Amino acid sequence: MPDLFVDLRSDTVTRPTAGMREAMAAAEVGDDVYGEDPSVNALEAEVAALFGHEAALFAPSGSMANQIALQLLVSPAEELLCDADAHVVTYEIGAAAAYGGISSRTWPAVGADIDPEVVAGMIRPDGYFAVPTRAIAVEQTHNRGGGGVIPLATLRDLRGVADEAGVALHCDGARIWHAHVADQVPLIEYGRLFDTLSVCLSKGLGAPVGSLVVGSAEKIERARLIRKRMGGGMRQAGILAAAGRYALAQHIDRLADDHAKAALLAEAVAPFGVLATTVRTNLVALDLTKHTLDARALAAAARAEGVLISVLGPRTARLVTHLGLSDADIDRALAALPRILAAA
Ligand SMILES: Cc1ncc(COP(=O)(O)O)c(C=O)c1O
Repeated sequence: MPDLFVDLRSDTVTRPTAGMREAMAAAEVGDDVYGEDPSVNALEAEVAALFGHEAALFAPSGSMANQIALQLLVSPAEELLCDADAHVVTYEIGAAAAYGGISSRTWPAVGADIDPEVVAGMIRPDGYFAVPTRAIAVEQTHNRGGGGVIPLATLRDLRGVADEAGVALHCDGARIWHAHVADQVPLIEYGRLFDTLSVCLSKGLGAPVGSLVVGSAEKIERARLIRKRMGGGMRQAGILAAAGRYALAQHIDRLADDHAKAALLAEAVAPFGVLATTVRTNLVALDLTKHTLDARALAAAARAEGVLISVLGPRTARLVTHLGLSDADIDRALAALPRILAAA
């Protein structure tokens, strides 16, 4: 995509910075399927420690990291509970069913506003007359939920619900770094609440590739087998791990800047009846139900002005801020979007 465009479609569009490329070029590598890549081993140890868990495993994508974790927690013909908009059941192309034989049941899409009592009421125990619930998955921050942050108190209540029922709790933490920055909750605090987490280096953190599954040593040993079975065993992956380590060191605190830019975008569209009420982090979900433009028409008009946005539904569009955007890029979007919305 030429830089002619201000790309607000996703935080996955970032390219490695010069410093990150230097770190990649200098990375020590080995064969990671043999467990011999020092850069991967260092990244896994670092991420496990950040979340206070025993171990972590580097995976090629957030989807694979999620699906490895779900297969660790839920056996074939058993059940996962999550919300109807969760990435694991919306954008992972049926992987839990296809690869894990996992049955999924959802609570209504409420983004980050989860009611733990509703979740508790859905859990089904063992018995020959029902599919037994084995795990609950939540998303921090919530992608289709406009980057909403699940409050720590809610997560603690959900941990209580899971413990009471004897089921596991998984976090799709693709953007958990943003929650950490927005709510000032230490990553280790989040870590202690979950049996498994998947955390991503290639979204807001700006690395080109990679996510990690985080959990106990026993789980991560099994995760290594599942990853290999799914074709995710990589060889000299240290080049990618070095980018991830650089991102962890350099790109977490700067997320506050992305959050501030997202807030500016939300403010700019608010006068046109375009609700973006959940904005806390770098995702801005635009609710166009009260506007004459639908999401496709808005995206087409924005593109004509050099601004790329995502269409999530007929009347839902999404803007995402990330480290590839300069202040001048945001100024261009801040000028174009109100102009388009006012003209319609
Ligand atoms: C919340 C969430 N989880 C998981 C993923 C999957 O990541 P990947 O695209 O690396 O498979 C994404 C991707 O956007 C996401 O937003």
